[in-house]
Amino acid sequence: MRLMTLADVDAVLAIEQSVQAYPWTRGNFCDALGSAYLCYVDEVAGELCSFAVLMSGVDEAELLTIGVAAPHQRKGLGRTMLSAMLEVARAKQLSRVFLEVGVSNLGAIALYRCAGFAEVAMRRAYYRNEKGSEDAMVMACDLSSELSGGRVNG
Ligand SMILES: CC(C)(COP(=O)(O)OP(=O)(O)OC[C@H]1O[C@@H](n2cnc3c(N)ncnc32)[C@H](O)[C@@H]1OP(=O)(O)O)[C@@H](O)C(=O)NCCC(=O)NCCS
Repeated sequence: MRLMTLADVDAVLAIEQSVQAYPWTRGNFCDALGSAYLCYVDEVAGELCSFAVLMSGVDEAELLTIGVAAPHQRKGLGRTMLSAMLEVARAKQLSRVFLEVGVSNLGAIALYRCAGFAEVAMRRAYYRNEKGSEDAMVMACDLSSELSGGRVNG
């Protein structure tokens, strides 16, 4: 796992375009890098196989995108990348990580639930899709109980 650089954008974009119906553009990734969002990639045998972009605020972060190259899916790379993003959030003493996911993206929702995310809201007709639109589930992973100096139950 390492930070994404501009030199990685071609490879990241190739994955994004092959796994997303409405992919982020080159401009979106370049803007994310230019905005100092936390952009990470991971490689297998020298090949860039996964990426994620985390937008960090003062107290919370939002996972803006995560992707794994199709031939490498279901091998644990998504779980590893998501765990790394949560570690980044913990290291920054953030209390919650949010994300939005299309309600039909059952694989991603299963991954997020495994990592400790739970549904907190629904955004109606949030994404475009071939049928017109799709609702987005807003999910959050609460890290507040792990904060140093945080409240102790009981
Ligand atoms: C979602 C995505 C990042 C998951 O990455 P991955 O490397 O394939 O996931 P992992 O192998 O780490 O899976 C971890 C767990 O998540 C769940 N999961 C992941 N993909 C799944 C799928 N297609 N169907 C059902 N469960 C799935 C499973 O519980 C899995 O554990 P298991 O393999 O032991 O059953 C990947 O499928 C992807 O890039 N999809 C396209 C982009 C996308 O949808 N991104 C999310 C946008 S919000």
